[in-house]
Amino acid sequence: MTPLTFALALISLTLLFPSSFFISASASASAVVNSSASDLLLHHQLRGGSLCHQLIIPSGYPCSEHSVQTKDGYILALQRVSSPSSDKIRLRRGPPVLLQHGLFMAGDAWFLNSKEESLGYILADRGFDVWVGNVRGTRWSQGHVSLSKRSKEYWDWSWEELALFDLAEMIEYIYEETSSKLFVVGHSQGTIMSLAAFTQPDIVNKVEAAALLSPISYLGHVSAPLVLRMVKMYLDKMIIAMGFHQLNFWSDAGIQLLDSVCDGHLDCDDMLASITGKNCCFNTSRVDFYLEYEPHPSSAKNINHLFQMIRQGTFARFDYGMLKNMRLYGSFRPPKFDLSLVPESLPLWMAYGGNDALADVTDVQRTIKELPCKKEVLYLDSYGHVDFLLSVKGKEDVYEQMIEFFSAWGKSSSL
Ligand SMILES: *[C@@H]1O[C@H](CO)[C@@H](O)[C@H](O)[C@H]1NC(C)=O
Ligand SMILES: *[C@@H]1O[C@H](CO)[C@@H](O)[C@H](O)[C@H]1NC(C)=O
Repeated sequence: MTPLTFALALISLTLLFPSSFFISASASASAVVNSSASDLLLHHQLRGGSLCHQLIIPSGYPCSEHSVQTKDGYILALQRVSSPSSDKIRLRRGPPVLLQHGLFMAGDAWFLNSKEESLGYILADRGFDVWVGNVRGTRWSQGHVSLSKRSKEYWDWSWEELALFDLAEMIEYIYEETSSKLFVVGHSQGTIMSLAAFTQPDIVNKVEAAALLSPISYLGHVSAPLVLRMVKMYLDKMIIAMGFHQLNFWSDAGIQLLDSVCDGHLDCDDMLASITGKNCCFNTSRVDFYLEYEPHPSSAKNINHLFQMIRQGTFARFDYGMLKNMRLYGSFRPPKFDLSLVPESLPLWMAYGGNDALADVTDVQRTIKELPCKKEVLYLDSYGHVDFLLSVKGKEDVYEQMIEFFSAWGKSSSL
């Protein structure tokens, strides 16, 4: 590698963190990095405790912590949230709904705006029995029965394992606890996981209906310029070749690199748009608060898998190269996740946006076409990728209709 390529790789590596994570790329990222990066870093390092105690209980909502163990040994946290009034009146719990977050995020993502704006609080207020998922490697789900977080093996997974182990186990747990089929809501990578999992009969038979925000199964038409640049230069493979297995923005190195990149060399203001598409309804004044929780770590292999999807236009298992594929899968190419296997009887509600540079309209429409089940689709011309999670108008634009859909399918009368 020439020094120039190396420097480029390093800069792009830096870009990968804020880029994969929208918020650090937003308007005030440079200010945050400039003035309070070390404060935030300290804050992240000191931050202990559970999601319930840090964020949800202080907002006045009853919240309990649960943990599940995956078949491959990861220990995941789940939170169960209900409405503040449920304690006093002892209301019967409504139908369970599992919220599955996206890449570089965790369960906190559903609670980052005001109580009136955040889907997690809104669903609890409407009587749902809200369960909050947190995939392996995120700050709330770092345990493993035997592997150390520092080992390479700990980070040896992609969204395929998140779907077939993490999501499967969380659904199973909630199904057992509530003796009820559940609703699933996914955003972004949470929808990749959901769609992959819904092709598996033993998982989908516990799901009543699902809502997918920025639904992704195909990524062949991603239009985000910064992402495409990283894909083209094989940044994912470079990172792995350089010995990174965990991608953790909140490391000293990550902070310093972002600091230097944002310090005049690059227009951080435009970064959000060049990664997620232009978000209509993002509250830039809340970025400092978002950064107290996001981004969460993920694995380099996961990025590698996502980039494979962009390069190959497929929705398939991890591509190890022909020889290892043959050994593992019995074919040169990795087996595809076949959307036609999602049961016809599964009601799906999907919302996508005209300005989403990751869940591109062409790809979403292909997904819709290949799914055999009943679908209700909401298209919002002005919405970008992040809006479906953090829009200040999300309630009226998106969530009310989603809740109406769930209520129509819910067996429970309490809604
Ligand atoms: C960044 O820091 C420099 C020097 O510490 C200061 O002069 C400048 O005003 C700061 N900029 C912002 C946006 O906080
Ligand atoms: C945007 O965030 C600020 C800071 O938290 C908050 O005061 C304001 O109410 C938010 N605006 C909307 C429309 O939610």
